Amino acid sequence: MKKYLGAACFALLVLSGVSAQSAYDSSKVVDVMHVNGGSLRAAKAGIDATDPKAAADAFNAIAKADASLLGMDPPKGSKEDWNKLFGDLIAAAKKGAADSTAKDWESAKADLASLRAIMGKGHAEFRS
Ligand code: HEM
Repeated sequence: MKKYLGAACFALLVLSGVSAQSAYDSSKVVDVMHVNGGSLRAAKAGIDATDPKAAADAFNAIAKADASLLGMDPPKGSKEDWNKLFGDLIAAAKKGAADSTAKDWESAKADLASLRAIMGKGHAEFRS
């Protein structure tokens, strides 16, 4: 019995490892990118209006949406760079949410600039 349990756990581990990696899905990426575009505008509007909740919600929407692209194969180029850029994007978005909640508007503006810079790198490398 113990032996079978071990084998079942191993199979589950292998399967979850496989499902964490998925083929490039353009329509999913485009959906996330539309969330990114709207959220970037909403984060800027929240910062301009010094509205901590609006700004933090917008930054958090970016962190949440882009987490779904970690582990997806890129359309071209390096998988490592793809995951690194989305990891950086998510970290900058989470920082933007924390800085907005703390009403540290200068830092929140810098976080917005970081997101744009990461977007620029991502588009230069992966968008045709
Ligand atoms: C907040 C940051 C970002 C914003 C606002 C943004 C925005 C956009 C927009 C508006 C599009 C066009 C979608 C359409 O065709 O209707 C797009 C496409 C795309 N973006 Fe981003 N992007 C961001 C970050 C990134 C990053 C970090 C990467 C890669 C590491 C990336 C990779 C791509 C790719 C591959 C496409 C083409 C999708 C396809 O047509 O299959 N983007 N992005």
